[in-house]
Parts: sequence; structure tokens; C-alpha cells
Amino acid sequence: MAKGKMTSVFFCQSCGYESAKWMGQCPGCKAWNTMVEEVVDRSKLQTGGGAHHRQGSESEVRVLSEVTIREQDKVLTGIEELDRVLGGGIVQGSLTLVGGDPGIGKSTLLLQTCQKVAQAGHKVLYVSGEESQVQIKMRADRLGSFSPNVLLLCETSLDAISETIRRQKPEIVVIDSIQTMYSESISSAPGSVSQVREATAALLQLAKGLLVSVFIVGHVTKEGTVAGPRVLEHMVDTVLYFEGDRHASYRILRGVKNRFGSTNEIGVFEMRENGLEEVKNPSEYMLSGRPENASGSIVACSMEGTRPLLIEIQGLVCHSSFGIPRRQTTGTDLGRVNLLMAVLEKRSGIQLSGCDAYVNVTGGLKVVEPAIDLAIVLAIVSSFRNKALPAKLIAFGEVGLSGEVRAVSQAAQRVAEAKKLGFEICLLPKGNLGDCRTENASNMKVIGVSTVADALEYIGNCDNMG
Ligand code: TYD
Ligand code: MG
Repeated sequence: MAKGKMTSVFFCQSCGYESAKWMGQCPGCKAWNTMVEEVVDRSKLQTGGGAHHRQGSESEVRVLSEVTIREQDKVLTGIEELDRVLGGGIVQGSLTLVGGDPGIGKSTLLLQTCQKVAQAGHKVLYVSGEESQVQIKMRADRLGSFSPNVLLLCETSLDAISETIRRQKPEIVVIDSIQTMYSESISSAPGSVSQVREATAALLQLAKGLLVSVFIVGHVTKEGTVAGPRVLEHMVDTVLYFEGDRHASYRILRGVKNRFGSTNEIGVFEMRENGLEEVKNPSEYMLSGRPENASGSIVACSMEGTRPLLIEIQGLVCHSSFGIPRRQTTGTDLGRVNLLMAVLEKRSGIQLSGCDAYVNVTGGLKVVEPAIDLAIVLAIVSSFRNKALPAKLIAFGEVGLSGEVRAVSQAAQRVAEAKKLGFEICLLPKGNLGDCRTENASNMKVIGVSTVADALEYIGNCDNMG
């Protein structure tokens, strides 16, 4: 190796920002202490990294309209929650990144996927750089029986893995995890930005060249000691994040990028004694354990991808004993809650400036859709007045700075979901009334409001009735 070509570069381990000098804070993602020195061989990086042409074969040109898509190009995993997030199955030759905190269940999910896909007659190869074959077998035993179509390889050398894939010709490959893989052509340690990128580029080349579908596991790390999955988001076809509260048993698989389907789709799972179980009706799951007749609690409907999801929003407002009141949120945006409280104060004359306020989306879900604004407002007012809202009420709608309630997308679907779970009254933006006319006839009372004041008047009247 010619010494002159080796250069020292600093990479941010969180976002992959490259710099010739060390810096305390990454200019790209503003993270501190994430710049790590790596020695790279420039001559190799330019030819190897990123290029994904097939060696030895001439590129083929075809008329776009003549390219046919066959249904069998997609492999259904049989796990409905996963298939939907993937956009209707595993696309042949695709590269999918599955990111998440260590211990959240990525290996379990992918091993279960292997199990299902293999049962359907597809050949899969599970490559682990983290666990031994015996450890994987112990996990597999908890998950049930495996067909002989599942091959196991415990290896961290990329060249050896590529060779095995070429020889065994599996249809689906799982790489667990990308941070343990290393390529001999790069001198830096496994897990560094240049190694992780090189490994992904090589896998991309394999996936597209041999038409194998590759799943890559990437650990999300906070310390910045190994490169995070964000470094490769741009290289892969699909990015899925597996999230959830470690203390709770459910897990949410969220699609954040998908070249073959809609993003923001979620799949809900529950971690059980013997693996992950699909949660077919997540709304019911999210609402279980909801308190009865408690002030500050309301149900909202948020769209997660194409699916409506009912969630409980809780507000707690109490007098502050500090000069600057405390405001805190879990599962939603703090800035948004501050804004809604300012709207309430200015447009409806509710004195909240001396109050501490806490807003919580239960179930550990993160919801940023503005459609939950109206429910947040009502939860805050309900807690402020210490009056419970009607138990069978749901509300959704975006709140603007003038206190107007704006229409949101897919109102009819949201109302239908609420009806399915036995809700009887729905407060929604007046602009959405047209979409939901038919709902009025049956057991659901649909009430259109055009301002926050309208909504408050309605719940005020409910109080008088009760
Ligand atoms: P794992 O898939 O190893 O996480 P990751 O690959 O994301 O690091 O999941 C580990 C956790 O899941 C571990 O705490 C044990 C738990 N688990 C169960 O609760 N039930 C099971 O059947 C399995 C296999 C794991
Ligand atoms: Mg694992």
C-alpha cells in the first residue's frame, strides 16, 4: 500500500460529516464530541465507495415503458405489520436498513422474518457479527421451529460474506449488524464511518447485482463511539426504525424512507416471551387502561401513514410556584403546546401564564401531526377547569394562531376508526363536515367547530347537561 495516499480525516460518527480538522461540535448535526479520526486511503475510496456498477457486465439499456413489474418480485413476509411498512412485501434486490436502540428487538424481528419467509420456500441467509451460532439457536428456539431454508453465518469479514452470498445465492440476506462488519481495504476500525459506508456500498452492489434483498441492522448510539445508521440513510432504499419504550412491551416499527411505498407507515408489535407478536388493532391497545371520568384526558385520532390511530392525550395544569412556569411534554412537541397555550390565553381569555402544564401522549408514541391540536387544547382546558370531558368524545383538528380550527386530511377515516371503537361524539373542524355526512346518520354524533371558542362552548354545554 503506497503510504502517500493515506490521509487522516475526521468523521462525525452521528451524521457522517467529514472534516480535515478536529472539531468539538459537528457543523452538520450539531452533536458534541462525535468527530473521530480515521485514516483513509483516498485512491480506494474513490473507486470503491459509492460506486455500484456490476463488474464484468455491460450495462443494459431498456425502454422504460417496456420494463415490466411482476408481482412475484415482492416477497410477502407473512407478518402483516411488517409488510405494510415495507410497502407490500420485500422488493427483490432492495437494501433495507433497520435501525433502533440496542436491545429493542431488531435481531428478534429479523430472525422471525427469516423464519416466516423460509417457511414460504425462500432461501435466506442470516449473518451475525454479534452472536455465536449457539446464541442465535437459543433465540431461535424461543421463536419456534425453523425450516432448513434458513442458513446461518457468524462472520464479520465483508469479503467472506460476499463470497458466501455469491456461492449460496440466497434470496434474502440479513446483516446483523453493520457496525460489526469490516472490509480489509479500509484501515479504520469496524463501526467507524468509513467502514460502515464501505460495507453498505459493497452490500448495495451485491443486492442490485445479484437481486438479493438485504436487510441491514444498524444500532442507534448516543455516545458516538460507532457510526449511527443516519450515516447510511441516503444509500439504502428503505429505512425502518424500531422504537418503543424499553420498559413497556410494545414496539413500533416506523418507515422513514421508502422508495417502494409510502413513508410514515407504522407497524405495532408486542414483545412476548416467545418473540414479537403483531398488534392488529393498535387503537384498542393504545387506549387500554384509560382512566374513567378523569379531567384532562381526551382521545384524539392521528394518521400514522395510511392508518388511523386513536391515542389518549392527557393534560395536567396546576398553579406554578416558580417565576417561570414549568412546561413539559411527552410524545409531542413542546413548542407546539406552548403555542396552543398562548392561543388559549389570547383568544379565549383562559389565564394559563401562571400555570405549570404537562402534556402526555400515552402509550409512548411520538405524535407530531397538527391534527391533534384540538385534543391538546381540550385536555388543557379540562384539566384547568378540573372537569372531565364526556368519555365517548374524540376530537381532532389543527388549531391556527387566531384560534381557528382548520380542516385536516382523511377525516372520514378517522371518524370511522373512532366509531369502530365505540366512540359516540366527534368534535372536528367545520371544514371536514362535508367528508363525514354519512356518519351522522348512524351512532356517531359529528360536530363541526370553526374556532377553539366553539369547541369550548360545546364542552361547556356538556358540563351543564351532566
Ligand atoms: P434483540 O432482538 O436482541 O435486540 P437488538 O437486536 O435490537 O439489540 O432483543 C432483545 C430483547 O428482547 C431482550 O431484552 C430480550 C427480549 N426478548 C423477549 O422478550 N422475548 C423473546 O422471545 C426474545 C427472543 C427476546
Ligand atoms: Mg441484535
